[in-house]
Formats: sequence, C-alpha cells, structure tokens
Amino acid sequence: MAVFSNKRILLGVTGSIAAYKAADLASKLTQAGALVDVILTEAAQKFVTPLTFQSVTGRRAHTDSDLWGNEAHVLHVGLGHTANLLMIAPCTANTIAKLAYGQADTLLTVTALAATCPLLLAPAMDGGMYDHPATQENLDTLRKRGAHIIEPADGRLASGLAGTGRLPETPELIGNIRLILGRDGWLANRKVIVTAGGTQEPLDPARVLTNHSSGKQGYAIAQAALDAGAQVTLITAPTALKPPVGARVMQAQTARQMLDAVLQESAGSDALIMAAAVADFRPKHLAKDKIKKEGGAPQIELEATDDILKAVSSHNGGKTRPKVVVGFAAESRNLLENAANKLESKKLDVIAANDISAGDAGFAVETNRITLLFADGREESLSLMSKIDAAEILIERVAGLLG
Ligand code: CTP
Repeated sequence: MAVFSNKRILLGVTGSIAAYKAADLASKLTQAGALVDVILTEAAQKFVTPLTFQSVTGRRAHTDSDLWGNEAHVLHVGLGHTANLLMIAPCTANTIAKLAYGQADTLLTVTALAATCPLLLAPAMDGGMYDHPATQENLDTLRKRGAHIIEPADGRLASGLAGTGRLPETPELIGNIRLILGRDGWLANRKVIVTAGGTQEPLDPARVLTNHSSGKQGYAIAQAALDAGAQVTLITAPTALKPPVGARVMQAQTARQMLDAVLQESAGSDALIMAAAVADFRPKHLAKDKIKKEGGAPQIELEATDDILKAVSSHNGGKTRPKVVVGFAAESRNLLENAANKLESKKLDVIAANDISAGDAGFAVETNRITLLFADGREESLSLMSKIDAAEILIERVAGLLG
C-alpha cells in the first residue's frame, strides 16, 4: 500500500494486557510495507517479549536496557528523528501521565521527547482509569500539544468489568495511522465524493431489486483518497463492508437517495467518483404489504431512475459540478465502445471500463482489470490487480487532473 511504503513507524508498547494486540498491529504494518521499530517498556515485557516483535517486524525491538548502552544517544535521537510517526499502542495511564509532564525516564519517553514526528496514542486501561479526571486532563494537555488520540472502545475489560478502555481492533488502529501518514498527500485539502455499492429499490416491505455490487472497489477508492489526504464523503448503498476510518459516511439505499446525496455534496467538491452500481429501473409502485404468493406471480411495472452522473453535469446549469467527475462502465460486451459512449454522454473526465463478464474482475472479487478512458482521448489499460492497487492508480490520475 502506497501510504506505508518507505514509512518508518516507531511503535511504543506499554504495560497493558492489550500489549499482545500490538504484535498483530506491528505485523500488519510490516506486511503493508512500513518499517516498524518497536520500543517496549519494562511493564510491556511482563506481557510480551522483544522477540515477539522482532519476529514479526524483522527488526530489532528496543527496551530500556538500550538506554544505557554505547549507542543510547544515537538510538533515542535517531529513532525519534527518522520516524514518520510515533504511535504508542496500547498506551497506559502511567505513560500518558509521563508524556503529559515531559518525563524522560524510559527509552520510550526519552524518544517521545526527542521525536519531531506526529504522536498517535491508543490508550488502553481497565477499571475506570480512562475516565479518571487525571487521565482526561493529561490527555487534554497532550491534545493541545498536537497529539492524536484514538478513543478506546467500550466493552468487556480484562478485570471482568465493562467500560471504556479496550484497545480498538487492528484495522481501526491502522485506519488512524493512514490518516496521519497521508495528510500531506496529493489530495490534501481536496474534497472528494465516492459512491459505492449496489442500490436497492424496494418492491414491498420484504423485497428489493438490486445487483451484485459488493462495494469493494468503491470502498478501496475512498480509502485511497483518504491515503492521499483528501476529505472524503462516502455515499454508500448497503454493503457488508466497514467504511474506512476518517470518511464521512452517508447511507443511500435507493438511486433516488443517492441522487439527492450526490447533488447535495457536489457543490464545492473537487472530485466525484461514481463507483456505485446504481439501479437503472425501480418498481413503479411500492406495495404497502408483502406480496403474497397466493395471488400468483405478480407483473412488476418498472420505471427509469434518474441518471446521477447526467444530473450532476446539468444541475444548477453545471455550476455545482465537481472539477473532476469519474464514472465506471460495467459492461459484459463491447467494453471500450460502450465505455467511450458513456464517457461522452455523461460528460465525464474519466471512465473506468470494467469487464464484468471476467471471473477475476468486476463484482464481488478482490481483483479488477480496468481500462481508463480520458476525455482528452488518452487510454490506459491496467493489468489484473487488486482493487486496492487499482484504486490507488485511479486516485493518482484524479490528483493529476486536479493539478
Ligand atoms: N450511473 C448513474 N446513474 C444511474 C446509473 C448509473 O450515475 N442511474 C453511473 C454509475 O455509477 C457508473 C456509470 O453511471 O459510474 C455507468 O453505469 P453503468 O451501469 O455501467 O451504465 P448505465 O448508465 O446504467 O447504462 P447501461 O446499464 O445501459 O449500461
């Protein structure tokens, strides 16, 4: 993933039972392409060992014993100055207090004082310690100094009590890291709207007309735009996916709801990427009660929905059209010809032509093979790749068009 490549993440691990989850975090960050240097406090080593982290990062993990070695100075200044991010997960109430007061009695706290990169804390603690005014005041102090804090989750704590204090799951931690690493990217200060998923058109209280879209490509595009620093609004039809951390999410079940949401968000936006599979037809009448089989197979009269992309270009005389508008063409034959027609008729800047008849591309699968057609006549064929990689390339091209 581009947002992690060549990024150095300094991961501080402190003495909370959630320290075991930090091994998963270190592993996933390494797999994503980051260079992860871990510092464990003494208390963290009661729960996990440096070897755990060395094994998943392939790099030496550091402890307080390094604070007094020959390389000590080089180590804490070096780690603090070369990192793109210092994350402490889990971060105990004790370490939060030390950071708030600028204490420097462990390798981790010395390094935090020397560090010039952003600081991201994921507090995790039991028994109401998180809600204690002392912890909250210390967190406020750190926030005022620019630290980023991830709210701990509610739920069952190790003591058996229930409350706020659980370390959030790895994907949420990683989502927060991405927001910080990407914030100065190509799309910093740009507003991007992404639509995703297949709309559902109700027929009766139990049934809908829909399609096979899983939303994966659209969600990957929203994540890639966030990685590039954009403010992202994700307008999504119902899907089974978790929205990327940092996206503003608007639910739109039907084509009509998606149209309203897109038009409302378009004014002042820099880019609109319509990855959603929008229904072209909906039942003309919504049955108030469930259609019963005793009545025999019903005749369902359909009516056309509005074309959202066309509406965006014509709404307010085109004045609220985002600067760059991207469509997708889901085709099972005559791929490029149909896509080129849609590029023109929908007045798009780019269309991603998508062959939905191929088993390894299109709906629901993890990979895609798309061809980008640009309004200026350029054509770019992308090979079979993950939807995440395809999303990153598309976002790079959108950023290029925005200049
Ligand atoms: N789209 C839209 N509004 C609709 C239908 C589709 O804005 N009512 C958008 C889709 O989000 C996509 C593009 O138009 O970005 C092309 O969608 P596609 O389903 O391939 O084409 P249609 O315009 O629906 O035409 P057809 O189904 O006849 O191929």
